[in-house]
Amino acid sequence: MIFEKKILVTGESGFIGSHLIRRLVKSYPNYDIHGLDALTYAANRSYNIDLEEHDNYHFHHINILDKKKLNDLFNKHQFSDIIHLAAESHVDNSISNPLLFAETNIIGTINLLNLFKEYSSGRFLHISTDEVYGDLSFDENPFDEKHAYSPNSPYSASKASSDHFVQAYYKTYDLDLISTNCSNNFGPHQHVEKLIPKIIYCILNDKKIPIYGDGKNIRDWLYVDDHVDALDIVFHDGVSGQKYNIGANNEISNIDLVKLICTICYQKKLHNNPQDLISFTNDRLGHDRRYAINSSKLTKNLNWKPSDNFHLLLSHTIDWYVNMFKF
Ligand SMILES: NC(=O)c1ccc[n+]([C@@H]2O[C@H](COP(=O)([O-])OP(=O)(O)OC[C@H]3O[C@@H](n4cnc5c(N)ncnc54)[C@H](O)[C@@H]3O)[C@@H](O)[C@H]2O)c1
Repeated sequence: MIFEKKILVTGESGFIGSHLIRRLVKSYPNYDIHGLDALTYAANRSYNIDLEEHDNYHFHHINILDKKKLNDLFNKHQFSDIIHLAAESHVDNSISNPLLFAETNIIGTINLLNLFKEYSSGRFLHISTDEVYGDLSFDENPFDEKHAYSPNSPYSASKASSDHFVQAYYKTYDLDLISTNCSNNFGPHQHVEKLIPKIIYCILNDKKIPIYGDGKNIRDWLYVDDHVDALDIVFHDGVSGQKYNIGANNEISNIDLVKLICTICYQKKLHNNPQDLISFTNDRLGHDRRYAINSSKLTKNLNWKPSDNFHLLLSHTIDWYVNMFKF
């Protein structure tokens, strides 16, 4: 079969990558989809293992810092497009090991940009975070795409730098490049180090639920499938050289989120008194107060819309983790 595109998806065995690659393989049999991942502690290959039976899916166990293996891969496959998600993604780890984040998130991205420049004729879609904009006070307007970058953690600084490199390669080499900046995702397949799976894990195991500081930090939570929808749309219809913000319009403080999950878990009879497990800890260093995203460029220009049933999606997410933590 002659495929229309040959797409490399990096970070395919991580949280968002695992959902995105499933979507691409199943919805686009006319595309040859190649997943790449270094299979760090954050990866779980079992989420995608069933994709092996699809003729348009291939997996490559490669680290994006390994220039030799990457070069051989591009030489062999001549990918038309790249969707780049591979990254070190946990802010706490970036505080203890900033250099690893600089290497993977900055140098790894530059390695891919260089190979894209040399071999590819299609599009490079770079997946980034709203954390590059820094934080907002409670009464400020949500970040739009023109908001100045002001990253506060080594993680967000490394992602901000990678965004700048993408923009610089667009200007300098006239390549087809787009970046997206998304708010916090939730849903199945997320590593238990992240807030929502951690809360569920603690409730199921009758352990203290640690909350940084006063718990009033606000995040905007987007269901992972909505993010995948947005990436699908931007990849196909986005304008080269542009950035697109992706958010859910769904702001909630950490403490209210914990209480909501406690209520749902109580209703599901998973714990008799989950709120008793809440325990405040010292605040995270450099903890951003509030993130909120203005996605109107994406909703107006490209017709994307996030789901508006947060409680139901959270409930489904809890069911998925309950099942997963059983094994
Ligand atoms: N999770 C969120 O809420 C969120 C929000 C906005 C943007 N993002 C961005 O989306 C992307 C994916 O995030 P995620 O939550 O799925 O992260 P994740 O940590 O769950 O997955 C990252 C994947 O990248 C792989 N990886 C790490 N280093 C690598 C390397 N050197 N070479 C090859 N593969 C490597 C890991 O093995 C893992 O499978 C990241 O770029 C992140 O910055 C995430």
